[in-house]
Amino acid sequence: MLGLTLLTDPRWANIAEDNLEEILTDHAWCEQKAASNAISLITNNPEHTDLVHELTAIAIEEMQHFQLVIDIIKQRGYTLGRERKDDYVNQLMKFSKKDGSRNTAFIDRLLFAAMIEARSCERFRVLSQHIRDKELAKFYYDLMVSEANHYTTFLNFARKYTIDVDVEKRWREWLAFENELIQSYGTKEQIHG
Ligand SMILES: [Fe+2]
Ligand SMILES: [Fe+2]
Repeated sequence: MLGLTLLTDPRWANIAEDNLEEILTDHAWCEQKAASNAISLITNNPEHTDLVHELTAIAIEEMQHFQLVIDIIKQRGYTLGRERKDDYVNQLMKFSKKDGSRNTAFIDRLLFAAMIEARSCERFRVLSQHIRDKELAKFYYDLMVSEANHYTTFLNFARKYTIDVDVEKRWREWLAFENELIQSYGTKEQIHG
């Protein structure tokens, strides 16, 4: 699925469902961070007009996702907690190339975003298929579709704007790294936990 070589154990969905307030809080902040990431890509690359426009749409959509999640939190009588540390994303950030040319860092930032969209999409799929709550299952199904589109957008921009990066080769490195990394996860009530 989306190039991911290791899929999440469905039992993770039960851990998530048994800790709904926690997973919803973590999820809300994932959406906020996705919006922030799109905004910083816009800020750092204003000369790419189509990227500016498409990522503006994504940033808005991510904040709409944030709004949907905080609405669910409220409807169910929960409270949005503070932002959770996302160890998985921090590890991906460490893997990304920040030195080298401006283009190298830019392309890797796009691949970093594509990677997170791919895994988030896969996690939403697991939730949509395995949680008992029908309303939430439908909600996660819709988000899965949306994040799959974001994944495609980021990957296609990497292909379009590369100057000195072999995107297909670098993307395979990202997938291989993620495949190793994700083996330590899948047991916690976090979207990437
Ligand atoms: Fe989202
Ligand atoms: Fe997204």
